[in-house]
Order: sequence, then C-alpha cells, then structure tokens
Amino acid sequence: MKDYFKEIKEAKVILRKKSKDYKKNFQKIEQFIKAEVNEIKHLKQNKQQIIPEISFKDLNTNNNSKVIDQIKRRGCVVIRDVFEDNQISQWNKDIEEYIEKNNYYEKQKEKAGLDNYFSNLKSGKPQIFGLYWSKTQVRIRQSNELDIVKKWINHLWKFKYSEYQVFDPAKELIYADRVRRREPGDSTLGLSPHCDAGSIERWIESNYQKIYDKIFSDQFENYDPFDAKFREKTDLIKSPAVSNTFRTFQGWTALTKQGPTDGTLQLIPIAKGMAYVLTRALLDDVPENELCGSLPARALSANNQYHKLLLEGLVSIPVMNPGDTVWWHPDIIHAVEDNHLGKGYSNVVYIGSMPLCEKNLDYAKKQANSFLKGESPPDFAAENYETNFIGRATLDDLTSLGKKQLALEDWK
Ligand SMILES: [Fe+2]
Repeated sequence: MKDYFKEIKEAKVILRKKSKDYKKNFQKIEQFIKAEVNEIKHLKQNKQQIIPEISFKDLNTNNNSKVIDQIKRRGCVVIRDVFEDNQISQWNKDIEEYIEKNNYYEKQKEKAGLDNYFSNLKSGKPQIFGLYWSKTQVRIRQSNELDIVKKWINHLWKFKYSEYQVFDPAKELIYADRVRRREPGDSTLGLSPHCDAGSIERWIESNYQKIYDKIFSDQFENYDPFDAKFREKTDLIKSPAVSNTFRTFQGWTALTKQGPTDGTLQLIPIAKGMAYVLTRALLDDVPENELCGSLPARALSANNQYHKLLLEGLVSIPVMNPGDTVWWHPDIIHAVEDNHLGKGYSNVVYIGSMPLCEKNLDYAKKQANSFLKGESPPDFAAENYETNFIGRATLDDLTSLGKKQLALEDWK
C-alpha cells in the first residue's frame, strides 16, 4: 500500500506554493460560494427554480443560451419528457418482471448471505439491484432520445484544443450501471454528501493538479469546470467504489414519478463548488496529512466539520416524472435523501454520459465482454447475477448504435 499520508503532505506543499497567499485565495473563493449559497437559499425560500430545466423537444432550438449559462453555473440540469409516459411505464413493468421471473430476491440472499442485511426494511428487499443487462436498460441506453440528449450535454464542455481533441461529443459509449427501485418507507439507502470520480486524487494526482491549476494559483475567476483538458487522463486509485472512466455527466432516467421527500437525489448546484473543498483543505487547521475527511479509494467527502457553508446549498431535485432525466457534472457534490416518505416506488435507471476517448474506449471494450456473458461490468462487484437470467438482453437486442456504444462495432 502506498504511503498516501506522505503524498498528501507533499501535495499540500506544491499546491500552496501555486498561490501568493493560499489563505487569501481561500477567502476569495469562500466569498464567491457564500453568494452562490445565499442565492440558492433565496430561491428555495421563494419556491423558485434552482436546478436548470429544459424540455427534450427544445434541446436543439436556437434560443437556449440562457439555460446553457445556467447549467454551466449550476453544473446540473433536468431534461424533461425525454421518453413518452406509456413507453416508460412499459419498461418499468418489464424490469419488474425480469426481477421477479428470475427470482432476484432469493438469489441475492443466497449469494451475499444477506438474510439479515435488509431486516430493518419491512419487506427485506434490496433497493439497488446489481442488474446491468435487462432489456429495459439496454433499450433506454441505445435509444435515439438519449443519443440526442448526450450529444447536447457533451457539447456543453470545451473539448477541442489545438494539440488534441479530448473526446468526441457525438460518439457515446455506454457506462453500464445499475437500477434503483426504492420502495415507500425505505430508510436504508440514504447517501451522505459526496463526489465520485476521485477523492484525494483531486489534490495528489498530477492531471487533477493541472485541471485545478487556476483554482490554486489565484485565478479562480478564470477556472472553467467545463474545460475537459486532462480530465480524460486522471489516474484514480483502484477500488470497487470508484469509477475509472471519464463521465461528462452522471445521471439517471426516472421510471416512476418521484419528488422531494421520496428519497430522491440532492445536489449542491454550484459548478465551481469543488474549488471550496480543494482550497479549504490547505488551511492550517487541517492536519498536514489529511484532506478534510477524504480518504483514498472512497468517495470524496463533504462534511459539516469543514464544509458547512457549502452544505447549506444542498437541495433536493424537483419532482421528476416518468421519462424525465437528471444530469450532474462529475465535480458536483450530491447525496440521497435518507428516507422515502412518499407512497410509490421511486425507480430509476442510472445512465450517465461517457463519450468516446481512449480511456473510455478501453473500459468499454472490457465491459463488452461482461455484456456478452451477462456478467457485472468491470467497475462493479462481480456478483454476476444475470449470467443465467431469462430475458436478458443479448447481441440480437442491440441496434447498430447500441453495438457502437458497447464497443462491439467500430465508430466510423
Ligand atoms: Fe455518487
């Protein structure tokens, strides 16, 4: 095991040196965050929209500059009515049938020896399913609708440079992820505020240091979170909890209606919020070999001890209807409400955006093997539930687009 404590200490020396005065630099960033948080609180109090929204049918019209500015500021967006209600409701039923016909619940108990694990839940049922290759998931992933959405959100990034192009925004790959079916009354699934795609790496890893250079070197106002350069090169500490791909956005598609208090997603909708976390860790009250609670091979932590101001900006996303989608930038701190107090199942399929670049293609090629065998993808625990599942998606279910997205056919 590497000596991460030593690496953290060394990184702090390097990062502090980038600034004329790292304390003043933090204070400047703190002022910015304060203003953002105040605005979020004000909007919340007045029940005004905080997370930018756009309707699917408006994506490629010409008057979107205002909402695009908002997305770049907030680092997230809700895209409404991507799929027809009837279609989604059918897909939701299909996946339910897939789970029941294949005795998922029984198999899960056997496999993990989890008989008592969910015992604090009335039904004892899991809320997150280690399923990746149901026809529902595959159909949504390879849909023309999501192809349009992902091209649009990928274009929010700056990806072209004189030296090279970081990714191709029009060519998507699939990052196969799981399914959430959260039942009313569930209190097992809450997630505290965190960020994926690297924890201590954001300070110690050389490409992350380049990505965040402007933040550390007193040029916070010129830092652009949507500048993709070096993001496809970061090297993350290997762990089952960490995705080692470059996703331009994490996201999910709603299969059922769900709103605040239904155990839904929460976001801190400040695209530059990471700057606060990064520079806060350099202050003198943080032990020299620590980074405000962030640990290797885990999600990046946002906590009350060090990030109280930022956490005041945490808001639940608005009511999502079946067929709506939500997307958030990889630096956006997010959480899941502890309790589902609503009456219906809140079901989603996790589908983010992973455009074509070398790093993502490498992953997609390995993942293609998992698809063909029905196994769990390389980033996830090797539960391999679906190898013998009836009704699993196979090569025959893939369109030409679907094959390209799974690296089973070359992108031309
Ligand atoms: Fe997460």
